Amino acid sequence: MTAQLIDGKAIAAKTRLRVAAETAEFIAATGVVPQLATVLVGEDPASAVYVRNKHVACEKVGFRNQQHTLPATTSQAELLELVSRLNGDPAVHGILVQLPLPEQIDEQVILDSVHPLKDVDAFHPENVGLIVQGRPRFLPCTPAGVQVLLRESGVEVDGAHVVVIGRSEIVGKPMGMILVQKGETANATVTICHSRTRHLPSIVRTADIIVAAIGRPNFVTADMVKLGAVVIDVGINRVGDRLVGDVDFDDVREVASAITPVPGGVGPMTIAMLMQNTLTAARLQTGGAAK
Ligand code: GUN
Repeated sequence: MTAQLIDGKAIAAKTRLRVAAETAEFIAATGVVPQLATVLVGEDPASAVYVRNKHVACEKVGFRNQQHTLPATTSQAELLELVSRLNGDPAVHGILVQLPLPEQIDEQVILDSVHPLKDVDAFHPENVGLIVQGRPRFLPCTPAGVQVLLRESGVEVDGAHVVVIGRSEIVGKPMGMILVQKGETANATVTICHSRTRHLPSIVRTADIIVAAIGRPNFVTADMVKLGAVVIDVGINRVGDRLVGDVDFDDVREVASAITPVPGGVGPMTIAMLMQNTLTAARLQTGGAAK
């Protein structure tokens, strides 16, 4: 078996087109142009590329956007002041503080300070709580992007055993929470594995769908994958001058029924879902109910 490739670039482009069309309708109806503000602290080259890609996507869907780039020496108080200013600016609908932040800044304090209606990353405890209760305001971008990839690829999630590898606040935990909920492309039986899990390979071997988000190159090998399983690779690891995922792609594609490449799989979807969330934020702040 050679796996079907799940084309994240194509599915993200389709999602962006839908968001662009809905944005044009929203602007025509309200006169309000959705706006995303990003905040980048320091000079991490990977973060700078991610933020640039987010602004390119904003232009494509018709959003206003503004980037705030602060030096690596920025204090927590200075960053809080900027977030507070953006919270109070009615022309800014979404705020994205790019992670990681320099070590003198407590990430949780900053993420907690973003206004919950502008929290397009869905990191604020109020938004995490709404997700856990099955009534999400915003869906976290990467897990939501994985869900759209599964839906658009026709993968049967209902009743499937999904094994998520990794328990991060950004991917692993919310991924499990979204797929276990009642609903379309959900109703899964979810196991979340992590670095302390006993017998991890034998658990992964029982998965119908594997979501690898552990941040270790080539962690998922072919012997861990049941014949015909669907494999979603969230990892982006730099090995020499190459970007590789968490999955040993060349071997696993011979066992899986469908697999995402890295790059060109989950990455483009994350940004497409950020666009979706920014439009939702603009709707919520313009008196209309979010669709
Ligand atoms: N850094 C890596 N991924 C993300 C993300 O999804 N959101 C933010 N804000 N920073 C990140």
